[in-house]
Amino acid sequence: MFEKLGEWKGERRPIFLAPMAGVTDLPYRLLARECGADFTITEFTNSTALSRKATTSWAKMESHPDEEPFIPQIFGGDVNDMVTAAILLSESADIIDLNFGCPAPKVTKICAGAALMGEPDNLVNMVKEIIENVDIPVTAKMRLGTGSGENNVLQISKELESIGVSRICIHGRTLKQRYMGEADWSQIAEVVQAVNVPVVANGDVVDAKSAAACLKQTAASGLMIGRGAIGRPNIFAEIKMELGWMTEKEVPWIDERWHKLDELQQQFATRSWCWNRYVDLCRQTTGLRAKWMKRHAISFTKGLPGSKKVRSMMHETSSLEEFNDCIQKYLDDGINASSE
Ligand SMILES: Cc1cc2nc3c(=O)[nH]c(=O)nc-3n(C[C@H](O)[C@H](O)[C@H](O)COP(=O)(O)O)c2cc1C
Repeated sequence: MFEKLGEWKGERRPIFLAPMAGVTDLPYRLLARECGADFTITEFTNSTALSRKATTSWAKMESHPDEEPFIPQIFGGDVNDMVTAAILLSESADIIDLNFGCPAPKVTKICAGAALMGEPDNLVNMVKEIIENVDIPVTAKMRLGTGSGENNVLQISKELESIGVSRICIHGRTLKQRYMGEADWSQIAEVVQAVNVPVVANGDVVDAKSAAACLKQTAASGLMIGRGAIGRPNIFAEIKMELGWMTEKEVPWIDERWHKLDELQQQFATRSWCWNRYVDLCRQTTGLRAKWMKRHAISFTKGLPGSKKVRSMMHETSSLEEFNDCIQKYLDDGINASSE
């Protein structure tokens, strides 16, 4: 399913929407696909809760036939729970992704997420046990290391390759760095050189320029975008168009009228299409959910003129339908307004 691709000469490579807790709900993942993302992954979910069949955790694992392949991501510090969760998930999942990158204290204190990079033997053993117990591909998402002592992502990647992991994604920061500083793509490039398993580069890709620079420097088999895609699912098509991987005709929000708009109006029109489609996808799949809609409404309107006002208006709406109308009206008014 995945292959190592070697030096990048401008050709198409897959772009992933990064797993993001509180952001990448099912309708948002489906939206990102329609906006050009090649792969989407669920937010990380606690394997202990899954193995005990906790309803709220299983709710995060919902997918839809349009989301193919379906890639749930799990985390945990207990091998048995990780294996049990992986076995249970393998009935519906196409691929299972393992989280070794989360720096949140509530995760690292149970020696899960990025903390496992400080216990490389346990990490590798956990992946091995999972691979031996499921018959679907298993992938791993890591950081460069913990930040205490030398970075060990290279060594761990070699070991994961030897036990049969199908793909590795590397966020070019350490656990200690969390989200600070610049992502170090050179250490990702070293891993790409050293292993034959495909490596996906992650960290600080926010537009076509950074996407091209990252692929050129790392020769990675794909890119993963996180924060750059919050409130901007359109980032995937924008990058692909600029890199010549997608034509305007394939982009659903670009029509004749869009070309007649100025730059700001185009931003409103793009976000209006995305918001509308997000709400449609909610209706078609999970139903409208207040928490998700409020969170996405804030990021979809961020940075646009008048967005503060609409955010305070959001709080005054009495139903989700009214809330949706308020956001839609704000975005549509922005398209029609003169930008003088
Ligand atoms: C709000 C938020 C939630 C995240 N949740 C997850 C998660 O559930 N699983 C995971 O592997 N990484 C998670 N991450 C990390 C991202 O997947 C990604 O590795 C990181 O943001 C770096 O990529 P970027 O520079 O493109 O944002 C999260 C990041 C953010 C900002």
